[in-house]
Amino acid sequence: MASEEPAAAPISTESFRANRPDIVGPEVPQKPFPIHLSGAVQHGFGRGGKDLGCPTANLPDESMTPMSSVTEAGVYYGYAQVSREKDGQVILPEEDGRVHPMVMSLGTNPFYKNKNMSAEIHILHHFKSDFYGHPMKAVVLGYIRPQLDYTSREALIEDIETDKRVALKSLARPAYETYRVDGFFDLNNMFS
Ligand SMILES: Cc1cc2nc3c(=O)[nH]c(=O)nc-3n(C[C@H](O)[C@H](O)[C@H](O)COP(=O)(O)O)c2cc1C
Repeated sequence: MASEEPAAAPISTESFRANRPDIVGPEVPQKPFPIHLSGAVQHGFGRGGKDLGCPTANLPDESMTPMSSVTEAGVYYGYAQVSREKDGQVILPEEDGRVHPMVMSLGTNPFYKNKNMSAEIHILHHFKSDFYGHPMKAVVLGYIRPQLDYTSREALIEDIETDKRVALKSLARPAYETYRVDGFFDLNNMFS
């Protein structure tokens, strides 16, 4: 991601955490959403899976250009699809190649004090193997919250769990569900 960082909202982590809504965004996605992203999955620092129990798929910087229409670093929600194929070979099982709900964290991860912006997507599906190097597509449909700093890893884990619940509930509205079958995705691999 370009090193130019959107300004962080002056928000107190504790008061924000105590008052989180369980559904976010309007009934119908509004501009700048939907935002379409695609790129090959890259390695991050690897802490997501190990430290947080939340593996993330990082997108390369150049894939993030469409996100420049949002001014805020933060947590977003939508759908993502990982290609079953890598280098022309089918590697992943059919269910892994479906379109799944996702949460995306965009920013410098204040808890880990990264120097550069990154975009990390956590897909709400249990993958049996990793998928580095596989093409991935994502449609971002809304904003959940700003990226926050935390006094403990447990608090960050708890908030990521809340993000997942908020994303699922927010996506379970008709105008959002239609994006799961967006022509942008490979729909030969239908979701269940
Ligand atoms: C849904 C979600 C929300 C996140 N929220 C925050 C946050 O508020 N603050 C923060 O510092 N990092 C946040 N992160 C980023 C994690 O810190 C990051 O995934 C972790 O550093 C692992 O990165 P790595 O795999 O590159 O090591 C979030 C990640 C996800 C998936």
